[in-house]
Amino acid sequence: VESTRRGFLQVAGLGAGGLGASRLLADGDRETSVAEAAGTAVTAGTAGVVDFYGAHQAGIATPAQLHLQFASLDLVGDSRAELRQLLRTWSDAAALMSLGKPVGPTSTGSKPPVDTGEAIGLPASDLTVTFGLGPTLFTRDGRDRLGLADRRPAPLVNLPSFAGDALDPTLCGGDLAIQVCANDPQVAFHAVHDLIRMAGPAAVPRWLLAGSGRTANSRHQVVPRNLMGFKDGTANIMVENKSALDHFVWASKPTSPAWMRGGSYLVARRIQILLGAWDSTGLTSQQQTIGREKLSGQVLANLPTDAHILLSAPVDNDGERILRRGYSYLDGIDPATESVAAGLMFLCYQRDPRQQFIPIQRRLASADALNRFIRHVGSAIFACPPGISRGGFVGEGLLG
Ligand code: HEM
Repeated sequence: VESTRRGFLQVAGLGAGGLGASRLLADGDRETSVAEAAGTAVTAGTAGVVDFYGAHQAGIATPAQLHLQFASLDLVGDSRAELRQLLRTWSDAAALMSLGKPVGPTSTGSKPPVDTGEAIGLPASDLTVTFGLGPTLFTRDGRDRLGLADRRPAPLVNLPSFAGDALDPTLCGGDLAIQVCANDPQVAFHAVHDLIRMAGPAAVPRWLLAGSGRTANSRHQVVPRNLMGFKDGTANIMVENKSALDHFVWASKPTSPAWMRGGSYLVARRIQILLGAWDSTGLTSQQQTIGREKLSGQVLANLPTDAHILLSAPVDNDGERILRRGYSYLDGIDPATESVAAGLMFLCYQRDPRQQFIPIQRRLASADALNRFIRHVGSAIFACPPGISRGGFVGEGLLG
């Protein structure tokens, strides 16, 4: 284990004796950015519009916006035509909303407005909508419900159970995912609201979650703090690092079928943080749990062997990395503990969860010091198809 620690420190560019100045990174991907040094907040993009169309779906390698709305839905029937129509309707609506436009008429006389209207007058706010397809679209209870079973991508596995999982089935799974992100909370809400409304009656929501407080994933962002008070995203894959995206994030040959190449696999875990226990833990112990100093974010000189960053680091995971794109959430009172139900909506993108999320999470589940303070309560996996050009729809390679 000691050699593991040394390996980590070497990769982190740190001698056993301590830290090298201001380098915070495991891999040199992210150094203190100009914006961070100047103490200015830089939000995603500058024009406020993120193109819905392109080689990849927006919302994956997009600098994380400030707000999240996540929806998992189930397809009610077993109709491929209905699914195809839904994905087309959703794609057209998402393209309009990403330009700050309504999804349909708002002046409809005695009829209900097509667009619900709460984003009228608000700018596009870097809105992105990312769609995903769950394993149960391909096979449910062993049944080939839509005639798509033989097209299920191998990386879209059913996630195994991990030590310590405390999953609530009502917060897990889903046939379809909508990840909405925007720099305005109302723009994000409007998008998920109208997309859910348009989905009915063909598809109905299964679980929903709103978040804010992103995990950083851009060199142009100040690294924000999570609900435990630690900077989150310091050693993340940065979206400006195209070669890391090609290597770790975009689905490719030979593991992914042609219709998925350029897409990515999303693993979503709702992770509750036991804030009461954490808040009454000493600072030294908090820092040893994560493996970094709380205020500066620097890697600890004496890194404990069960520190979160040590066990999740690429050097101990066959060099594998993931693109984290999570958000903090607050969800009222947890009836079980009668304390705040707060946590991290952990979202990560990768080319193959069998090589990335699953082995990393196995390691964390078995030994991470953080486990005393967190509980995985929700879980889902989705295949997010590649991007499309104007006139197309997400998933067209599968259903077109
Ligand atoms: C509530 C749950 C979690 C919290 C509060 C949390 C928090 C953190 C913090 C504060 C860092 C250090 C700063 C940074 O590099 O971002 C970090 C790093 C990291 N975390 Fe987590 N994390 C959580 C769950 C997970 C899970 C479930 C995974 C993957 C299965 C994961 C993977 C990673 C990775 C890969 C790193 C970077 C390690 C490195 O290369 O230095 N984390 N996390």
